[in-house]
Amino acid sequence: MRFPVAFTVGLATAFASLASAHTCFTTLFINDVNQGDGTCVRMPKDGSLSTHPIYGYDNPDLACGRDGNIPVAFTCPAPAGAKLTFEFRMWADLSQPGAIDAGHKGPIAVYLKRVSNITIDSAVGPGWFKIYEEGFDTATNMWAVTKLNASQGLLSINLPSGLPTSYYLIRTEMIALHNVTSNAVSPQPYVGCAQLFIQSSVPPETAIPSEKTVSIPGHLSPSDPGLNFNVYRGEGKESSYRVPGPAVYFPTAPPGNNKAQNPTIQQTDGLIPDNCLVKNANWCGVEVPRYTNQAGCWASAENCWNQLEVCYKTAPPSGNKGCRVWEEQKCKVLQQACSSGQWQGPPNEGQKLTAVVDSPIPGGKLPDPVNAGQQGEVVSGGGGSSSGSGNTGGGQATTFIVSTTSAVPTSVVTSSPTPIPNDEVAPTPTVSPPPRGGKGKGYRPHCKSTRKQQQRRWVVYEPMA
Ligand SMILES: *[C@@H]1O[C@H](CO)[C@@H](O)[C@H](O)[C@H]1NC(C)=O
Ligand SMILES: *[C@@H]1O[C@H](CO)[C@@H](O)[C@H](O)[C@H]1NC(C)=O
Ligand SMILES: *[C@@H]1O[C@H](CO)[C@@H](O)[C@H](O)[C@H]1NC(C)=O
Repeated sequence: MRFPVAFTVGLATAFASLASAHTCFTTLFINDVNQGDGTCVRMPKDGSLSTHPIYGYDNPDLACGRDGNIPVAFTCPAPAGAKLTFEFRMWADLSQPGAIDAGHKGPIAVYLKRVSNITIDSAVGPGWFKIYEEGFDTATNMWAVTKLNASQGLLSINLPSGLPTSYYLIRTEMIALHNVTSNAVSPQPYVGCAQLFIQSSVPPETAIPSEKTVSIPGHLSPSDPGLNFNVYRGEGKESSYRVPGPAVYFPTAPPGNNKAQNPTIQQTDGLIPDNCLVKNANWCGVEVPRYTNQAGCWASAENCWNQLEVCYKTAPPSGNKGCRVWEEQKCKVLQQACSSGQWQGPPNEGQKLTAVVDSPIPGGKLPDPVNAGQQGEVVSGGGGSSSGSGNTGGGQATTFIVSTTSAVPTSVVTSSPTPIPNDEVAPTPTVSPPPRGGKGKGYRPHCKSTRKQQQRRWVVYEPMA
């Protein structure tokens, strides 16, 4: 009879990065709380391309970046009006400091798209609206990209207070114009998205006015003056620079109705499970089965290593710190217990692994929202008092009646948001099963952009007496 004796071999493997760095949105903070590197973020899977721009105005990757069509497991809850901070890195895993390559200059915008099902939505297509933009700031004589770099790659904005309760994709768009000249017209768009559930006092029946929205791709045109601006020969025209894309739409909840309390629908998709012992991006380690004998102990150890393998394989370019915590504090501890004959377990059953997995905040603090106090069109039709007046008036009035359905008493609203027509559905990601344990089994962490030394693990099965 064979019993597995598993042990690990740490093997230093230096990955030379082939990538030339520009920038990548890696990390979201909600009301100053770090959601964790990569958590809720649809990041490119290939680390060597994770910081690259997206070329081609009809490229579907303009929506949420490379692999941005593929949903991630977690969706972060955010109250309406919340402060959101986006962290941009020149090296997705912070193996080297820096937010964006030297010399990049241009505008930044933030978009939202309401989605009816975040677990399948590809992000591509209609429904995107812009909630924030900045081009050239004449007060500081700086482009938005330069200002972002000066604030250590951290951009804070407030969400509008008047968004209907729903799932959303939030999208950052930075356009670098440093290479736009009369000879070589090639602005560089950098985009990234995160999955949000926004809770507000505005009921889900309230629609986003379609005239405020655009399709992505499709919202940029090669002839747009904002994409053909020569940043070296601006000759003072920077003050009239217009950020490409639609006008900002920033709906505000009616006075006295801006509490994010008693949301009419609750988040059900993308919740981080309570039994998550340690998290890495959109992966969670959960406790291994309880055991009372030697075979059970090894089976649970195997369970632990199998979870670890998924963690490393799915770790986005922002890194695998949480996987390493799971490896050190769970799998190795468990294996040690099995090896030393402690066949009742698991040790520290159900305890959260408390090791710090968050990366340090560049500069040590988050900036204030750049759009604090911004007022938008007031949304009405909330709280079951919808006027039933049908469509919007086209936005001339300050009060914006946006109900599209007849009044629904709030107390009975439990339905999911009205599906958005033409919402494209993402292809089902193909998940290849992890290889099973065996002699010479090797693990290579997914992130290619890292210059840090990575660990490989071998599990070797040996006959036991
Ligand atoms: C960003 O800041 C760093 C450090 O101050 C500087 O070396 C780099 O050139 C800046 N990049 C941009 C795009 O302004
Ligand atoms: C989204 O789709 C998944 C898979 O079909 C389903 O389980 C889930 O309930 C849906 N969520 C909503 C909010 O409709
Ligand atoms: C500038 O654009 C040209 C032509 O599109 C391209 O070949 C070159 O690599 C670009 N340079 C930089 C620094 O982006």
